[in-house]
Amino acid sequence: MKLDAKAIRYLTSEDFKVLAAVEAGSRNHEVVPTPLISQLSGLRGGSGVNRAISNLAKTNLIAKVKNAKYDGYRLAYGGLDYLALNAHQKQKVVYSVGNQVGVGKESDIIVVAHSSGAQRILKIHRLGRISFRTVKTNRDYLRHRHTGSWMYMSRLAAMKEFAFMKALRENGFSVPEPIAQNRHTIVMSLIDAFPLRQISRVPEPAALYSELMDMILELARFGLIHGDFNEFNILIKEEQDPSAKGKAPATEEEEDENLRLVPVLIDFPQMVSVDHANAEMYFDRDVECIKRYFKRKFHFVSDIPGPSFADARKKLLKNPGKRLDVEVEASGFSRKMARELEAYMKDVGATGDGEGRDDEDEDDEEEEESGSEEEEADDTPENKDSGDIDDSTKRLEELRVSESSAQ
Ligand SMILES: Nc1ncnc2c1ncn2[C@@H]1O[C@H](COP(=O)(O)OP(=O)(O)OP(=O)(O)O)[C@@H](O)[C@H]1O
Ligand SMILES: [Mg+2]
Repeated sequence: MKLDAKAIRYLTSEDFKVLAAVEAGSRNHEVVPTPLISQLSGLRGGSGVNRAISNLAKTNLIAKVKNAKYDGYRLAYGGLDYLALNAHQKQKVVYSVGNQVGVGKESDIIVVAHSSGAQRILKIHRLGRISFRTVKTNRDYLRHRHTGSWMYMSRLAAMKEFAFMKALRENGFSVPEPIAQNRHTIVMSLIDAFPLRQISRVPEPAALYSELMDMILELARFGLIHGDFNEFNILIKEEQDPSAKGKAPATEEEEDENLRLVPVLIDFPQMVSVDHANAEMYFDRDVECIKRYFKRKFHFVSDIPGPSFADARKKLLKNPGKRLDVEVEASGFSRKMARELEAYMKDVGATGDGEGRDDEDEDDEEEEESGSEEEEADDTPENKDSGDIDDSTKRLEELRVSESSAQ
């Protein structure tokens, strides 16, 4: 990745104040009137404000909106990205922005670097970027919170993901290290691994399978269901067995023996409590997802039935872990926020049912058996859904932060 210390675009401090003013104004105005921008920016003299507005609109950080009653501006994705990145940079969490490694339906995943050179992952939530328009008209919560709901909902998703990742990490789960959250973004440690989806051969499918089932049960013991526990959201780290250190493997089998596969779980905005009304459905779906995938990909079917939600409940009662669902609620991600986010995610199809994924070969064992190399190659993170990159994403690539950028 590139370590770009030079900012390719600078905002003057006036531009920055005006951008922050548009953000502040959009908390209670869908379209922020120009006089309010001027007032909130704290700048004296209209010409400076107007110049800044025109700079920001030219670079698509804000957008002009002609309202029935008045003209004004709203914050664009690019503007929110800029503000979040700027905050991460000020807090010395991010030094520079590198390559985009993933484009999901609901997020952009970008490699960033700390000033030490250590690579990290910036996840930018873009909830509803695909079907926002169809949602906008028919939902109450949007009418009440009309002020750029994508902004609010994406921030909720980032807050929720960060809170869960932190609670899981602190309780010994194999998840990335959460580093920071700002607005609709989180920064976490980079896991040097591929998603299970891209792993073509597993030396011992039975061992990995039971490790994953144990993970589902262990989550339940701590009061949680992942809700999107699938081959895209499980990264597989390959670790050398320490006892085999220094010995070069002579055969593929020997190489397998020296390798330990460590699953790392990611992607938490859809997590639910075991007390959720549909908990059993989510739990069963997570279990089924792994069963189906192991059968299709590795031709592995376990002799042991389940686990069922009843098994998980039993375990929870007999040997309860800390209730992380309760802990997260207490940490500031309230039940009300959870409900709002859930309703919105359902509307935009972001509830972890895998819809819209490039996964048409779901039940087609023939195709998997032939092990099409091409299909695997097409599924690299770089290529995944790359047709979906929208303007905000492209713009972000051009946005490098540096010590010398605005404030
Ligand atoms: N911490 C990380 N380290 C390395 N790679 C990561 C990390 N987080 C995410 N990724 C990569 O980005 C991809 C998407 O991340 P994630 O599942 O969190 O986002 P998403 O919104 O669910 O996207 P999608 O809709 O594609 O599932 C992952 O499959 C993985 O390849
Ligand atoms: Mg995912």
